[in-house]
Amino acid sequence: MEMAGERTGANVSFWERTAEKFSTAPLQQDTTVDVCVIGAGIAGVTTAYLTARDNRSVVLIDDGPVGGGMTGRTTAHLVNAIDDRYIDLEKFLGEECARLTAESHTAAIDCADRIVREHNIACDFERVDGYLFLPPGGSVGELMDELEAIHRAGLNTVERADSVPNTKIISDAVLRFPRQAQFHPLKFLNGVARAIVDSGGKIFTGTRVVSVEDGDQVKVKTADGHTVAARAAVVATNCPINDRVVIHSKQAPYATYAIALRVTRPIEHALFWDTAETAEQEKQEIGPVPYHYVRFARDDQGDVLIVGGEDHKTGQAEDCEQRVAKLEAWARERFPFVGELTDHWSGQVMETVDGVAYIGRNPGDKNVYVVTGDSGNGITHGIFAGMLIGDLIAGRENAWAKLYDPSRKTLKPRALADYVAENANVVAQFRDYITPGSAKSVSDLKPGQGAVLRHGLKKIATYRDPNGNLHAFSAVCPHLGCVVRWDSCEQTWDCPCHGSRFDALGRVVNGPAISDLEATEVPGS
Ligand SMILES: Cc1cc2nc3c(=O)[nH]c(=O)nc-3n(C[C@H](O)[C@H](O)[C@H](O)COP(=O)(O)OP(=O)(O)OC[C@H]3O[C@@H](n4cnc5c(N)ncnc54)[C@H](O)[C@@H]3O)c2cc1C
Ligand code: FES
Repeated sequence: MEMAGERTGANVSFWERTAEKFSTAPLQQDTTVDVCVIGAGIAGVTTAYLTARDNRSVVLIDDGPVGGGMTGRTTAHLVNAIDDRYIDLEKFLGEECARLTAESHTAAIDCADRIVREHNIACDFERVDGYLFLPPGGSVGELMDELEAIHRAGLNTVERADSVPNTKIISDAVLRFPRQAQFHPLKFLNGVARAIVDSGGKIFTGTRVVSVEDGDQVKVKTADGHTVAARAAVVATNCPINDRVVIHSKQAPYATYAIALRVTRPIEHALFWDTAETAEQEKQEIGPVPYHYVRFARDDQGDVLIVGGEDHKTGQAEDCEQRVAKLEAWARERFPFVGELTDHWSGQVMETVDGVAYIGRNPGDKNVYVVTGDSGNGITHGIFAGMLIGDLIAGRENAWAKLYDPSRKTLKPRALADYVAENANVVAQFRDYITPGSAKSVSDLKPGQGAVLRHGLKKIATYRDPNGNLHAFSAVCPHLGCVVRWDSCEQTWDCPCHGSRFDALGRVVNGPAISDLEATEVPGS
């Protein structure tokens, strides 16, 4: 069995199959530094790197290896074409916010480009064109309005294209975004982690943080009983582990799926994605709906096409196999040059109620900073989070600070409706306390299967390992008490409320929970 946090699901992503993960010894003593960064995904690694470059002493801590979280399970499109449309940003937040959004994502792509060149990081970084196309029935007029908003936001080189090249995608209108980028996220992180160490920063993997106390000197405590005292701490755990309620009531976790298919002939690399919501879905305000995002990558056998989508609220769907099959069918219809399926996996993204990430000082704190609400643009969010938080720590002005401020009042009118809907959804999950279990008894469980069983008034998460041994845990999520559900594809226990996930043996792999599921007796034993 791998160490907890090695990766956040049973399925190995394309990146995990094609790169090692950087790891070090755990923290073994108390220490004092300028900045302690918690979480070694794209946000934490970039923040630690840029802070170390600012001549500050830095400690970067992760409970798994570097890249064991969502950055190891992404598709790593680096785009300034964000998931939400510019026309909406402009309408709800104003032209200046739309411009700052475009500027921050563009700056993140440029920053990655610079880091790769400066440190010669072999991570397949490539500048590529990106194509936004319409789903069936999508409106050409709306896409053209979007193009105008994109230009007003300062992305003047985006243009209308005739078609989506090299595909069978039929779209009445297409937008081409030049100078987007892609890389191998784990190879990138490994290179940046080495650069952090080379510039004097310290990285401790296999070290779980259990509390972060604000103050003139922040105290970061680890599960092994050590303390890092720091002038500033940055919580970059994807879903914050230092905040119990405030931020979690303003964002929601969505699972998203990805597949890789062998490419059978040479094709020019590009990024593709369709518009996230049709006007009809938007009107019904049903939240993020399945959409698709596509790129190429390379392993030692040649190119693969990576296709993502089929999102749903974490823990609230039981048809993961069908979702993977749907992605494959969608890809085969539109990309006639693909062969065998080589990899499939899933992960989750955090969607904020107003569509804007939370990056900056943690609400109510003086010296604790947070990065979350990444949505489908978490790679660029994570990179410019390093730039933004670096400036805040150094006391420098940063034009993006207000837009991404985690304490901002909700910016977008529709956000209130989304806030109410998402929190009503969370409350509805507590019905699990009175429903029957997902299996009747442990004898229903085959090796490799898990299910939540009812045992008197309790819900027990029960897993039969491949050797036939049974493992049982309280199904109550240690964050705020929702009942976890079994994900049969990733073999994880997923909390349907705020995104905590636990491996089959109950070990936490995604915050906000910081502790494992509590072990208990196997029902009926
Ligand atoms: C399938 C998929 C496709 C995606 N596609 C794209 C895309 O094309 N473009 C894009 O921009 N974004 C994309 N995203 C989103 C993006 O990948 C993520 O938002 C981003 O990688 C998150 O980075 P992060 O650093 O915030 O978190 P993570 O990479 O999850 O890192 C957080 C780290 O914190 C550590 N941690 C957690 N709790 C603790 C603790 N208590 N103590 C110590 N360490 C802890 C974890 O081990 C982890 O390593 C995608 C996501 C998925 C799942
Ligand atoms: S993540 Fe909040 S209750 Fe589980």
